[in-house]
Amino acid sequence: MAMENWAFTRVQTLADSGIQTVPPEYVRRVEKTHHDPNRFQVPIIDLQLGFSSQQHDHFCKDQYDRIAAQISRAAENWGFFQIINHGIPDSLIARVQEASKAFFQLPTKEAYANEAQNPIGYGSKIGYSPDSEAKLEWGDYYYNAIWPPDMRDMSKWPIQLSDFTESMDEYSRELSKLFELLMEVLSRDLDLESENSLNESVGGERKGLHIRINYYPPCPQPDLVVGLAPHSDPNVLTILLHDQTPGLQIRKDGAWIDVQCIPGALVVNIADQMEILSNGKYKSIEHRGVVHKDRSRISWAVFCSPPQDMVVSPKRELIDEQHPPLYQGAPYREYLTKFFKKGLDGKGHIHNAKQQDSLVSNS
Ligand code: OGA
Ligand code: NI
Repeated sequence: MAMENWAFTRVQTLADSGIQTVPPEYVRRVEKTHHDPNRFQVPIIDLQLGFSSQQHDHFCKDQYDRIAAQISRAAENWGFFQIINHGIPDSLIARVQEASKAFFQLPTKEAYANEAQNPIGYGSKIGYSPDSEAKLEWGDYYYNAIWPPDMRDMSKWPIQLSDFTESMDEYSRELSKLFELLMEVLSRDLDLESENSLNESVGGERKGLHIRINYYPPCPQPDLVVGLAPHSDPNVLTILLHDQTPGLQIRKDGAWIDVQCIPGALVVNIADQMEILSNGKYKSIEHRGVVHKDRSRISWAVFCSPPQDMVVSPKRELIDEQHPPLYQGAPYREYLTKFFKKGLDGKGHIHNAKQQDSLVSNS
C-alpha cells in the first residue's frame, strides 16, 4: 500500500471521504451556543462611505462624530462590530472570494503546504497527541502575508490562480485604508496626541497585513467538534469577511453567540495589541468557529500587525497614578512566541486560546 508522505489528514479529504463519524482526535467538549438574537446582537455600524473609502475626507464633522462614537462604543463594549457601506465595492469582494475559493479546489494545493513551526501556506491543525488535551479542528486554511507585497512568501503564493494576486493587491489597499480610518477614530476617542498616534504605534508604513482563509467542510457530527477553537487574535485589528453561512461566534457575558451574516458586511474585531495600547479600554475578546452538517463555510480574516521588532505597550497618555499600566511592553515577536508556546500544540497554527498570564500585569 502506498504511504501518504504527510503525517496528517486534510479535513477536506476526511469530509470528502464520506465518513459518518468523526475521528476521536477531533472530538472535544464543545460549549453550547446561546440562541437569543434579541438579547445579543453585535453592533452594526453604517460607515456611509459610498463607493470608496477615500471619501472619508469629505465627511461633514457631525456625520464623522456620530459614526466615530458608534465605533468607539462598540470597541469598548463589544470588541466586535460589523461595518456596512465600508467603501469596498461588492465586485472586489466577489473577486477575492472567487479567486481564493479556487485555491481549495486546486489539485496541486499540497505544493503550498506549510512546514512545522511556520504557519505560512496551506495548513490544517497538527500536533494531536492522545495524552494531552490537544484536539484537532474541523477546518483547513491558507495563510500568508498580503501587504506590503514584499512581505509575501512567494514560495507559498498560488501564483497560478487567476486574479488571486490582483484581487489581493486591491483588497489589501482598501483594507489598509479602513484599518487606518479605524485607528484614527480610536486615537481620537482615547484623546491621544494626534489622530495618527495608534497607527504610528503599530509601525505606520511598516505595519503588515496577513490573510487567513479558513475553509470549514461539512461535518457529520458538528456538535462534537469546532472549526476553530476559542481564541483571541494576537494582532492589532482584524477585518473578517465570510460567506453567507453562520459559524463565527463570540463570547459575550459568558455565552457563545452567533455573529449574523449580513450581505456585504465586514466583521471588525479589536485584537490583543489594541487592547494593550488602550490599556484595557478596548477588549480583544474570545471567538470561535463552529461547523455544519450539510454546508461548508469559508471566511477571510485579515490581520493588521505591527512589525515584529516593534515594542507595543499602553499609550503613555493613558497612564497616571490612578491608571497604572495593565500590560508590560514587549516586542511583538516575543508576544507571538509566548502566544504560540502557551497554546495547545504550538505548531502549524497561529491562534490559541487567550492566556491571561501572557498579558503580563504590572500590578
Ligand atoms: C480567525 C477567526 C473566524 C471565522 O481566523 O482568526 O477567528 O469565522 N476566524 O472563521
Ligand atoms: Ni480570530
